[in-house]
Amino acid sequence: MAGRFYLTTPIYYVNSTPHIGHAYTTIAGDILARHHRQRGDETFYLTGVDEHAQKVYRVAQEERIEPTEYLDRIVAAWRELPARLNVSNDFFIRTSDDGHKRFVQQFVQRIYDNGDVYEDTYSGWYCVSCEAFYTEDELVDGNCPIHGTKPEWIEEKNYFFRLSAYQDRLLELYDSRPDFVLPGFRYNEARSFIEGGLQDFSISRAGQPWGVPLPWDESQVAYVWVDALPNYLSALAYAREGDDLTPKFWPGCHLLGKDILRFHCVYWPALLLSAGYDVPQRLFVHGWLLLDDRKISKSFGNAVDPLELIETYGADAVRFWCIRAVSFGQDGSASIDGVHERYERELGNDLGNLVSRTTAMIARYRGGEIGGGGSAERPFDADALREEVTRLLDAFDLTRALETIWQFVRELNRYVEERKPWELAKDEARVDELGSVLYDLADGLVAVAVALAAYLPETAPQIFQALRQPAALDWSRIANGTAEAASGIEPAPPLFPRIELPAAAAGA
Ligand code: MSP
Repeated sequence: MAGRFYLTTPIYYVNSTPHIGHAYTTIAGDILARHHRQRGDETFYLTGVDEHAQKVYRVAQEERIEPTEYLDRIVAAWRELPARLNVSNDFFIRTSDDGHKRFVQQFVQRIYDNGDVYEDTYSGWYCVSCEAFYTEDELVDGNCPIHGTKPEWIEEKNYFFRLSAYQDRLLELYDSRPDFVLPGFRYNEARSFIEGGLQDFSISRAGQPWGVPLPWDESQVAYVWVDALPNYLSALAYAREGDDLTPKFWPGCHLLGKDILRFHCVYWPALLLSAGYDVPQRLFVHGWLLLDDRKISKSFGNAVDPLELIETYGADAVRFWCIRAVSFGQDGSASIDGVHERYERELGNDLGNLVSRTTAMIARYRGGEIGGGGSAERPFDADALREEVTRLLDAFDLTRALETIWQFVRELNRYVEERKPWELAKDEARVDELGSVLYDLADGLVAVAVALAAYLPETAPQIFQALRQPAALDWSRIANGTAEAASGIEPAPPLFPRIELPAAAAGA
């Protein structure tokens, strides 16, 4: 039954240009959004940028330009990334949008009016890279546990949110909804953090020129996370002028990396409860894409420019590699050489060659025609494929869903080897059998193309075109016998032509 699906990525800090780790979350979200559209769900996919971080302001200062000038320039690069990756986001939010700023003010006012805000003096450590406060115990040798850099000592009058008052309600929430946070080990991590006792946190910064002023005290701006998290709601309110999408899409699902689990799985539901909103439907926490066992980051010097990879291999190959290289939800180390390897071996050989061979055989042995029926005994179970992939994607298990589709691709390849159409073609008496085998292959490829369309949005239509099939992506087309009778099928050019690596890269 068709429903609704609202999905978000974290909004990214724009203190530098995007790297492949950022592309990772956006790609994963796009696959889920596209998948839900295929199922007929009314879908809204949101991504965007987080502009009010102090580190963003500092970069502009270092470059001696106005923050707005810096932002307009860098935001162009952040918009380009989803566009080049064929990401189908329905809106791109900037926290500097007027609609967003207005919303944040209303949001914090609701929390204030609810009696959950009080004034106190904050003194403690602040890591500007994390945009987070740390207690002495959390530091490692006096340094930020994530960045290894010395945090700043801050002492100022701030407004605090009574997070401690929400401990019981959060525990109740977690107990009543075991799939509130996925995967299960992340649920446990968040729940034990809550169980361990919650401390109130500062929701404002004093004397900062950069951010959204608090409505009841304009000398303070909202703490960047209290500005950023409500983007998931504000976008619904103003993305479509004159049409507030909140009743339609909230509560939605959030995708996030494990580095920001606490903000999303603990602070955000508490803030929502205080402001009188429903909590999210689901939070899915994924691991880091590690390169050479280190988190990808500009500061580690191992940042890979996703645009360069797309330039060489195309968006589909980059999307494919991201999901296949590391099991989605786990941490995993990937190597950039893997992009080339998977491009050749899996996309080129397993899938590309299968399409080339199938179309070439239909052209050669059947004059480019396939009939409307296959073998009486179906060699593949496309219904089982549809059901299994649906089940896995409902659990956000993108990697296993892709592996399931790939097993089907391999099955099709084995079928070619077993049935040897080139031998059937030599025997006049087996002409019907040959027709059925080729139809079954084409039919299997239609199911594969529909199933892969969310992962490989450029490739799927090429497969339909090669087989002269309608381009509709309806999920119900993953079933046996959906390929239509067709003519004019010609040997298809390679879907993934060979790419010569520059000598330096090839030898690496
Ligand atoms: N601005 C905050 C999020 C606010 S959301 C209300 C932020 N931004 S960030 O740019 O530092 O990181 C955002 C997200 O990028 C991470 O949670 C994660 O989803 C993704 N990733 C950044 N580096 C990554 C990897 N190396 N691997 C996988 N994901 C990575 O935190």
